[in-house]
Amino acid sequence: MQCQAQRGDPRPVGIMDSGAGGLTVVREVRKLLPHESILYFADAGRLPYGPRPAEEVRTFVYQIVKFLSGKGAKAVVLGCNTATAHALEYVREKVEVPVIGVIGPGVRALASSPVRTAGLIATEGTVRSGAYQMAIKERLPGVEVVAEACPDFVPLVEAGLVDREEIERAVENHVQIFRKRNVDALIMGCTHFPLLRPWLEAALPGVRMVDPARETAEELKRVLENAGLANAPRGDTESSGAELEFYTTGSVGDLNRQITVFLGLAGARVHHVDISML
Ligand code: DGL
Repeated sequence: MQCQAQRGDPRPVGIMDSGAGGLTVVREVRKLLPHESILYFADAGRLPYGPRPAEEVRTFVYQIVKFLSGKGAKAVVLGCNTATAHALEYVREKVEVPVIGVIGPGVRALASSPVRTAGLIATEGTVRSGAYQMAIKERLPGVEVVAEACPDFVPLVEAGLVDREEIERAVENHVQIFRKRNVDALIMGCTHFPLLRPWLEAALPGVRMVDPARETAEELKRVLENAGLANAPRGDTESSGAELEFYTTGSVGDLNRQITVFLGLAGARVHHVDISML
């Protein structure tokens, strides 16, 4: 063990989102890589990213990736589909650390079982970018994609899933097109949306729900291992030594509550970041 500890790279992994959605990626990364420390960044002061022009999102994502690598992140996950759609290639070219997105993994997750017609729920920005549509066409030619932007889902999740009737109504509104077109799988193409999974499953029985998060964690694992950046487990338990630290451009109290509700963690270390410092 001692020897392994010296071989591993204990630096944290950075994970960013416009808000709390990326916590669905954190959840999977912690399951698969419990010994990796994580720095999470929620750009809640500038949420939502969905309606913003691509260039603006690109600028924000670049600022955040620089912030996280400045804090010592050895790799950064864009735990946000809108950020991935608009900024992945751009940021990859500009920074030294490996940067991982969620759309490639999402399409791999879709391809893991047969599919004829795939539904896509995402932000306006992700739908408009055509990133999923193009990636699916390339990997799964012949699969039809029915895309629906659901901007009203993000605030419901950010609020902590408290208004259950409103959630039901919003979900019902958006799933009709998928019933009509008989989709056999639904890509939850915004990292906030897996938190609505019980409602989506109830509204679309028999439709396979596709969450890119697990595949994203798998890709992170491969990238870290191939680059010699993986940490080695230390101590008695798998996660011992792993630390979690959170940053937000929004309210510290809000992110703390979201971490408690979505990750089941109380008393997380959350810091405020002034947007003008990025
Ligand atoms: N969680 C983000 C995503 O995956 C989007 C939320 C937003 O519009 O800011 O696309």
